[in-house]
Amino acid sequence: MTSRIYEWLDSRLKLKSLEKTLLDEPIPGGASWIYVFGSATLFLFLLQAITGMFLAALVLVPFCRQPPGAQPPPPEAAGH
Ligand code: HEM
Repeated sequence: MTSRIYEWLDSRLKLKSLEKTLLDEPIPGGASWIYVFGSATLFLFLLQAITGMFLAALVLVPFCRQPPGAQPPPPEAAGH
């Protein structure tokens, strides 16, 4: 079933040539779990960059836009 769906998609999107370009790379000694760390690092970096932008836009910028002399909210306001 899966292969029939794949064949159907491939006949339209030419996935096999893309798959060959992206995945068919000879690796001396064969594939290994150690190669996961590069993409895991990339994922963690992108996650930090994206969540950092949200933190800056939703927390840091509103906090810095307070009128001069404004006191930070008491800790109780944050539910502590
Ligand atoms: C933000 C930091 C980094 C990112 C996002 C990153 C990402 C990647 C990715 C995606 C790959 C290909 C997949 C893999 O083999 O894991 C790779 C391969 C590699 N990386 Fe990094 N890398 C980073 C830092 C480093 C550092 C600091 C070193 C060495 C001091 C390094 C050395 C290598 C080497 C030698 C390979 C080739 C491995 C092989 O094909 O045998 N990388 N990296």
